[in-house]
Amino acid sequence: MIVTKTISETRRIINEAKKKGKKIGLVPTMGALHDGHLSLVRQAKKDCDFVVVSIFVNPTQFGPDEDYKKYPRTLTDDKLLLGRGKVDLLFLPTAEEMYPQRFSTYVTEGNLSQFLCGKSRPGHFRGVCTVVTKLFNIITPGIAYFGQKDYQQVEIVKKMVKDLNFSLKIKTVPIAREENGLAMSSRNKYLNSSERKKALAISQSLSLAKQLIRKGERNCKIIKNKIKNHIRSKKSVKIDYVEVVDAKTLEPKTKLSDRFVIAIAVYLGKTRLIDNIILEA
Ligand code: PAF
Repeated sequence: MIVTKTISETRRIINEAKKKGKKIGLVPTMGALHDGHLSLVRQAKKDCDFVVVSIFVNPTQFGPDEDYKKYPRTLTDDKLLLGRGKVDLLFLPTAEEMYPQRFSTYVTEGNLSQFLCGKSRPGHFRGVCTVVTKLFNIITPGIAYFGQKDYQQVEIVKKMVKDLNFSLKIKTVPIAREENGLAMSSRNKYLNSSERKKALAISQSLSLAKQLIRKGERNCKIIKNKIKNHIRSKKSVKIDYVEVVDAKTLEPKTKLSDRFVIAIAVYLGKTRLIDNIILEA
């Protein structure tokens, strides 16, 4: 696996691969890799001839009171996993390389970003759109891979790609879950064993909602209350939001119809976890 730190070196290698007719796949990550990331790599390996993974803990997508400084950084393990996954290139830029002094251009999606995590994390998606745009321009992939756990992120990136005429495809890979149902996340590394147990309430509550819907419930308030009550039954899990939203517009729904997403964000202590399911009425 080639490892690059500069944009110019990365471009040179990508150009060489393109000259050889290779199709480039990009898996953008912030590191602290788990099987969810590796499932994106596996999909990229199936579709593309030259797979690039970027690891960059992007400062612009963290709020001032968020976990930028203590976000898990596990580079030695990450490199091992990516080597085993037969990744061709690991792009590992520094913050200075991505945001040199006097950097002043940002990308904002103005509609889907208002909902869900956009409400509780102002500026987050502006940071995501900006860094993803930069990565697309540096790596110029044919396909870029994102996990469904960040459902809103994927929809925003797809919208940005459409609105700004990027010439690449976005492919989504389903949420990777631990055996007990917990959605895999780099932030799970923050959880102690008691918090890990409590965190199961998130995926359990989504299963409960699914059962309720199978039995015919269509009222979103009832569904959300069922979820909230289950989560609240585990002490010290604080709900940020429980929403039922349209799968395309992300607007909140009152009655189930078409394709919709149940999206949850909670805090366990200082750790913010998200999860979702996509269903059809
Ligand atoms: O999902 C993530 O890990 C990040 O938001 C991304 C897409 C790598 C941008 O920093």
